[in-house]
Amino acid sequence: MTDQGADAAGRTLPLRHSDDIQGDILAGFRKDHETVLLLRFPDDQRPVRKWLRLMIPQIATTRQVAAFNAEFSAARHARAGIDPAGLSPTWVNLSLTYAGLKFLMGEEPFPDTTLPGVQAFIHGAFARAEINGDEGDSAPDHWLFGREDQPVHAVLTIASDEQAQLELRASELRVAAARAGLTVAFEQVGATLPGDAKGHEHFGFKDGVSQPGVRDFDRPDPRDPIHVDGKPGTRILPAGEFVIGHPKLTGDAPPLPDWTRNGSFQVVRRLAQDVPAWWAQAGAARRQLEQEGVELPPGTGTEWLAARVVGRWRSGASVAHNPNTEPPTKPGAPDDNLISYATDENGHTTPHFAHIRKTNPRDGIAGDFKNADTRRIIRRGIPFGQPFDPSSGAGHGPDTDRGLVFIAYMADLAEQFEFLQQRWINDKDFFQTDAGHDPVIGKDSDITLKLDTKPEGKKLHFAQFVRTEGTIYAFAPALTTLRDLAGR
Ligand code: HEM
Repeated sequence: MTDQGADAAGRTLPLRHSDDIQGDILAGFRKDHETVLLLRFPDDQRPVRKWLRLMIPQIATTRQVAAFNAEFSAARHARAGIDPAGLSPTWVNLSLTYAGLKFLMGEEPFPDTTLPGVQAFIHGAFARAEINGDEGDSAPDHWLFGREDQPVHAVLTIASDEQAQLELRASELRVAAARAGLTVAFEQVGATLPGDAKGHEHFGFKDGVSQPGVRDFDRPDPRDPIHVDGKPGTRILPAGEFVIGHPKLTGDAPPLPDWTRNGSFQVVRRLAQDVPAWWAQAGAARRQLEQEGVELPPGTGTEWLAARVVGRWRSGASVAHNPNTEPPTKPGAPDDNLISYATDENGHTTPHFAHIRKTNPRDGIAGDFKNADTRRIIRRGIPFGQPFDPSSGAGHGPDTDRGLVFIAYMADLAEQFEFLQQRWINDKDFFQTDAGHDPVIGKDSDITLKLDTKPEGKKLHFAQFVRTEGTIYAFAPALTTLRDLAGR
């Protein structure tokens, strides 16, 4: 077995051993069940500090989660892909909103409040709704959490593979919070979808395929050190893109105070998905192409169009490498991430509007990865609600709540999450391509499907069937900072 804690030359990967950076940022919790508790502090600081002191030993560190994940993967490998039994911790992490940090610090936490990322954090997601394209049905006045009249100070993320264990832990944490006078402003549960749908989001596509690699955390491939070992195409980026106080890709990092070191900004977003409507729309768009005489490859149907909209087939295989048919899944094969758009400048294979091209244009901007690499985020989302399957009875129909609990970590809310939402997802003229908005999560728009047989493009209308139902901006501080706040 390779030593996951060191690179090929035996040099340790220091961030794998961090007891300061909280778990789930660099080392994902990767659990089947998750509960997110949004907590409100009482007026008195003392019980809150006491609560924080109780919480600190329960918070998972990067070292713990990374070591567990490595052990779990090795055991799974040894058992030919079957999850090992008996390896089942319950992980917890904790982040604070601007209001929560200010409350515990007793003063303005940031010496320079004019930095764009700090401004975004201070104002919060409610005030930034317009930037993020949250309007109409997604407008913040309709949100279930994150509204101005519902203050949130802390976010607890609890994750386990066993639902019963998760529920037990969540109730213990609720009791501890209540004893200190904290109230639960909102509770969001999430779970991976059952059976073969595990690892897929509600529209049916495999999720979590493309994540950034992180220097000093991920093991570089000895033959191709810009990529993660065993994960072709997963580019290794400086840790400062995601964790404060580490080198960034370009330029100096914004001057953030010392207490932010080893912390990460977090976005928690509840995104409702109207599955039947989204697929009906893809089907209608496919029929429109046929009716209007657009020449399509033989045998291509709605799945073909939907794959173009996402940029991947349901299995996670890329359209870039499999333009017209979904390839058979090869068990144990690495994720399909060695993707370049440099030879698909016109977007005839992976359209410019495709969700994965909009949110990570890779080398499709000026021929290199530089720009796109500075906009990467670490995604830790999990679905909520039952899968859509009207034949399965109650809970599976079109009226039931379902969607994605989108959770992401990054070093700068303005330059990463908000930039993606505003400048790429909801920019119709994405790099002067007339792409339209992202047809998975963007606002209603015409998209332009360009094909070899239709290079000038065909316009198709895509309405938004992902609705924002709440957003919180928070910061997951280092354990050192949490101890300092608890001890003040
Ligand atoms: C319900 C909402 C969403 C759905 C159904 C969805 C679905 C997907 C799917 C199927 C993939 C391809 C698999 C993968 O690489 O993980 C993907 C990738 C991705 N998504 Fe989303 N997503 C949603 C929301 C978002 C949001 C809000 C953002 C950011 C603002 C986002 C950013 C990304 C990024 C960065 C990638 C990876 C692109 C790449 O590197 O190739 N997604 N998403």
